[in-house]
Amino acid sequence: MNDQQLLDLVKQMTREEKIAQLLQLTGAFYEGFHDKELLTGPRAELGVSEETVNASGSALNLSGAKTAIQVQETYLKKNRLGIPLLIMADVVHGYKTIFPIPLAIGCSWDLPLAEQSAEIAARESAVSGIHVTFSPMVDLVRDPRWGRVMESTGEDPFLNSLYARAFVRGYQGQDLKGDKERLAACVKHFAAYGAPEGGREYNTVDMSERNLRESYLPGYKAAVEEGATMVMASFNTVDGIPASGNEKLMRGILRGEWGFDGVIISDWASIREMIAHGASEDDREAALRAIRAGIDIEMMTPCYVHHLDDLVNEGEIEENQIDEAVLRILQLKEKLGLFEQPHRAADPERENEVILSADHRKAAYELAVKSSVLLKNDGTLPLRAHSKVALVGPYAETNSILGWWSCEGNPQDATPLAPALRERMQEGKLSVASCGIETITGGELADMLEATESADVLVVALGEAAEMSGEGAARTNIQLPKAQLELVRRLKATGKPLAAVLFNGRPLDLAGLFEEADAVLEAWFPGTEGGAAIADLLLGRVNPSGRLSMSFPQSVGQVPVYYNHYSTGRPLKAGSDERYVSKYIDSPNEPLLPFGFGLSYTSFEYGELLVSSDRMTKEEPLTVQVTVTNTGQRAGIETVQLYVRDLSGEVVRPVRELKAFTRLSLQPGESGTAVFTLHEEQLRYHHSDLSFTSDPGAFRLYAGPNSRDTQEVAFQLIT
Ligand code: BGC
Repeated sequence: MNDQQLLDLVKQMTREEKIAQLLQLTGAFYEGFHDKELLTGPRAELGVSEETVNASGSALNLSGAKTAIQVQETYLKKNRLGIPLLIMADVVHGYKTIFPIPLAIGCSWDLPLAEQSAEIAARESAVSGIHVTFSPMVDLVRDPRWGRVMESTGEDPFLNSLYARAFVRGYQGQDLKGDKERLAACVKHFAAYGAPEGGREYNTVDMSERNLRESYLPGYKAAVEEGATMVMASFNTVDGIPASGNEKLMRGILRGEWGFDGVIISDWASIREMIAHGASEDDREAALRAIRAGIDIEMMTPCYVHHLDDLVNEGEIEENQIDEAVLRILQLKEKLGLFEQPHRAADPERENEVILSADHRKAAYELAVKSSVLLKNDGTLPLRAHSKVALVGPYAETNSILGWWSCEGNPQDATPLAPALRERMQEGKLSVASCGIETITGGELADMLEATESADVLVVALGEAAEMSGEGAARTNIQLPKAQLELVRRLKATGKPLAAVLFNGRPLDLAGLFEEADAVLEAWFPGTEGGAAIADLLLGRVNPSGRLSMSFPQSVGQVPVYYNHYSTGRPLKAGSDERYVSKYIDSPNEPLLPFGFGLSYTSFEYGELLVSSDRMTKEEPLTVQVTVTNTGQRAGIETVQLYVRDLSGEVVRPVRELKAFTRLSLQPGESGTAVFTLHEEQLRYHHSDLSFTSDPGAFRLYAGPNSRDTQEVAFQLIT
C-alpha cells in the first residue's frame, strides 16, 4: 500500500479504532496466546474492553511461530478493516542463540561480528513471529552502579555510535519487506537514560544541553541515521521534563532536527508514570502531554485509550494529531509487509531449521571469544597442557551464563565451563567443585579446597548472578559477594597459581581479587557458547583480544570514572603529593583499568607515532601511522586506538576522545601498520551556543593500545 492508500485507510477508521491502534499490550491479553488465564485478569485491571484489545495496534513479548500465527489469525477475524497486529519483543542479545551481553559485545570492538549477532537474532525471532525488536539500547553509561550498563556498549559516544549502526544494519538489513527474516529496530531509551543520578534505576537525569548533545545523543542519532524504524522514549526526566512528555526531545530534536519519521513508543507505563514524576495530575493530563510531545504508541497503560477521545472533543488536541500517529504505525506495518503477509516470516518449520543452528552457535562462540577481556596475567594463563587444574567457584559448573535480557534463551542450551574444559583436557587433569553465588556452605568450601589439593593451578570462576544486573538492579556495592572474596582468600592461601574468570554484568570493584589473582579473565555473561569460548581461551586455543569499553573503577567511591572526562584548573600531576589539586586523599584518580584496556597472550611492540604534518587545515587532513609488531609466540589481534585532545577549546574538551581504531591481526614476528586519516570535521564539537564547529589552535594526538598507555604528538589546526 502506498501512503495515499494508508491515508485512506486511516480515514475509514473510527476514532475509537484509531486510538486503539496507539495501545500496546503484552501477548497475554490476546486470545490464542498460550497462557489463557492471563487473558481476563490483566484486562480488567487495566480497564480496557475486549473490543479495545481486539483493535489495539501492537503486542509485546509474544513469540513462537505457532502462537504468533494463532494470535494474528484470531485477531484479524475480529478486526473490521483487517489491519494486522504488530508484534514486538525485547530481543536484546539474541533470541534463543544467546550472544554475550551488549557490554561484552562492546568490548569486542568487532563491528562485523556485532552486526552478525543482530542479523542472527533477527532471523531467529522473525521466524518465531516477532516483527520489531526493542533494541539496540544505545544509552551511554558511566556509572557501573546502574544495572543496565550490561545492555549498553559502554562509555564512548563514538564507539557506541558505531555499534548502534552495526546493530541497526544487522536487525533490519536493506529491505524489511523483501527480507522477511529481519526485524524492525527500536532504538532506546531516548534520551540519556544511562545517566541516572547515583546510578539508581529510573532516577533523575540532569545535565547541560551541551553535554547531552556531545555525549549522550550521538548513539541515538547514529541509529536513526542508519534507518532505525522506531524510537523508545525513556523513563527519566531530561532537564526536568519526563521524556514521555518531552516535546523538545521528541518533536524538536528527534523529528525536527534529525528528520525521524518513524514510530515513537513510550516505555512500559511511562506515560502514566508522569503522574508519579509530578508532571501530570492524572491520566488525562499525562495523555495530553504525551500526544503533544509526539509519542505514538502507549505501552501498557490506558491513558490514550481513556482520554484521547475527550481531549479531541474538548478541543485540547486536534484529531489529526491522532491520525498522524496512526499513519506512522500503519506505515511501519506496511514497511514490514504485514498487510500482504500478516504472518510475515512466522514459520514453525523454519524455527526448527534456524534456531540454535550450527552456524548461529558458531557466531555466538566467536563473539564470546572476542568479547572476553584479559585483565591481568603474569603468565598463569593460558593453562599448560600438562598441568593439573582445579576449577572451583560459583560459575564452575552452572549453565546460567546467558545474562539478563536473554529473551527466549534457555540455559539448558548452554554448556557450562566445567564440561567444556573437561572435553578439551586429558582425562584426570581436571577436578571441579562449585558453590553458591552469595553464600558458600561449609561443605562446598571443603569440596573446593579438596579439589585444589592435587592441582598445580587453580581456576576460580566468580561473579554476580544474572539478576544482579539488568533492569531494576542498581547496586551501591559493586564488589564480588563477600563469600566469594573469602573463597579467593582461602585459595590464595594454598600458594598455588590462581586464575580468576569473571561472569558479571557491570565493571566491578575488584578489590580483594585483582591483587590476589595471578590472572583475571573477564568473561561477562558470554551466552550460549560461553562455556566453549572460555575453555578455549583458558587453554590458549584462542587468544584474548577484547578491550574494555567501560572503565573499571578502583572503588565505588570514584564512580563515575571514565576516560573522556575533562581536566580541571588544578589537575593532579603524576607522582605529586600536592594538597590543593583535584584528587582524592584516599584513592588514585585513575580507574583500576581504563577504557580500551585488554591484554593478549602475545606481546606487541609499538614503533614511533608518525604524523604527516604538524598543521592541519580543512583541506589537508593529517595522516597518522604507527607500526606494531607481534613480538610474542602466538598470533594475536592488537586494537590500535587513536585519541585527540583540543587544548584551546572555546569550552573545555575531554582529556582524550576516541577518534578511530583499527584491529591488526598479526602472526608471531609479523608487523602491521595502523594508518588513520584525521579530518577537521572530526574535531568539531558543540560550542556554548550549541553550534557544531572546530576551534583553531593547539591539539594533541595520542595512539596506543588503550586510552592510557599512549604516545603523543602535537599539531595545530589552522582554519
Ligand atoms: C524496559 C524497556 C523494554 C520494555 C519492554 C521496560 O521496562 O525499560 O527496555 O523494552 O520494558 O519489555
